[in-house]
Amino acid sequence: MDVQKIKQRFEIIGNSVNLNRAIDIAKQVASTDLSVFITGESGTGKEVFPQIIHQFSTRKHGPYFAVNCGAIPEGTIDSELFGHEKGAFTGAHDSRKGYFEFTNGGTIFLDEVAELPLATQVRLLRVLESGESLKVGSSTIKKTNVRVIAATNTDIRKAIQTGKFREDLYYRLNTVPIAIPSLKERNEDIYLLFRKFASDFAERYRMPTISLNDEAQIMLLNYEWPGNIRQLKNVTEQISIIEKNREINADTLHKYLPNYQEIKLPVIYKSVDQKTFSTEREILYKILFDMKNDMNDLKKLVLEIMQKGTDKTSIQKNNAPLIQKLYKSIEPIANQESSDHLEIKRPENSNIQDTEEIIEESLSLEKKEIELIKKALEKHNGKRKYAANELGISERTLYRKIKEYNIS
Ligand SMILES: Nc1ncnc2c1ncn2[C@@H]1O[C@H](COP(=O)(O)OP(=O)(O)OP(=O)(O)O)[C@@H](O)[C@H]1O
Ligand SMILES: [Mg+2]
Repeated sequence: MDVQKIKQRFEIIGNSVNLNRAIDIAKQVASTDLSVFITGESGTGKEVFPQIIHQFSTRKHGPYFAVNCGAIPEGTIDSELFGHEKGAFTGAHDSRKGYFEFTNGGTIFLDEVAELPLATQVRLLRVLESGESLKVGSSTIKKTNVRVIAATNTDIRKAIQTGKFREDLYYRLNTVPIAIPSLKERNEDIYLLFRKFASDFAERYRMPTISLNDEAQIMLLNYEWPGNIRQLKNVTEQISIIEKNREINADTLHKYLPNYQEIKLPVIYKSVDQKTFSTEREILYKILFDMKNDMNDLKKLVLEIMQKGTDKTSIQKNNAPLIQKLYKSIEPIANQESSDHLEIKRPENSNIQDTEEIIEESLSLEKKEIELIKKALEKHNGKRKYAANELGISERTLYRKIKEYNIS
């Protein structure tokens, strides 16, 4: 099963390289019995990874058990994980099996593993090193066959430095590390996730789907998202329920983003007119595209000058819209008595043939682009999502291009 299919099966939204890589590692490591250590900020989506690993392992028919180590009181955690014998402590009227025993032959997911007390860490280390588990109050060793997957959203190295987490246990758990990217590290997925959540909540609450105007989209991308996907999901849900006007503007969105800091956008960004962009790549793409168009216009102009000589009036008349577009800052042609700064002298040894060739090539680039888009759409039976994926551009860029080139 490839990464895309895993995403569909486990309802994972996103297409960033680092997310795909994390899924790919999970899939690769699943068939081994190695311990896996999952790290990532809070709300990044760590909890689905142990399930992927379990489902693709030979243990998939065995039990899967997720334990939130941070939610079990320190006094009972040993007993919960490893079980206890009758009379092991006050109130232990019967002997009890622990999670490790229940999970025999399967996979145990130790979530928030950094919260384990040091004494429990010693017991866990023993299980990992020798497969031996010891019930509280018992001296009889039991063999367990459990695969351990652990996760944390804290800085585990800091916990080791401060003596809160055993280094030897860390190395045992960390045989294969999987780092789940924060939302900021997968910027291109933010809008995708928003749209998915917006449509899910619209369906759940039977209301029209909310959408963001251009400004709000930029705000969504610029926000830090300290709570990552969980926060994005919550914000989308709140807006979906509360806001009557279903097209959300930046002012409205701002109310839902705590500590939103207005980011000074780079000058280059401002030079692009306020269209909708989801990623920096798209911005650069757009700039390059505009530059290419300007180049083409300039080449056409230069070609005409070279062909018709320096008859300023007729050139300006024939190309008024083009000149206006290229030199936005100058006075309108009609009002211009003198246009010295537009004086273009025919270069000596000019080679018209060369210029024509360049124009041809440049225009054919555009054709190539149209051709590629058509091919990708044909290949994926008109499914834009997959076609965009194949072309290495976002779905939105593809949509824009289809409109721009009028591709049916
Ligand atoms: N790629 C994704 N696509 C869709 N929903 C996602 C994705 N990743 C996470 N979510 C959703 O985000 C929420 C948070 O995910 P999860 O509980 O796995 O976070 P976590 O990494 O375990 O956070 P914490 O460290 O705080 O426990 C869940 O509701 C989950 O369904
Ligand atoms: Mg979690």
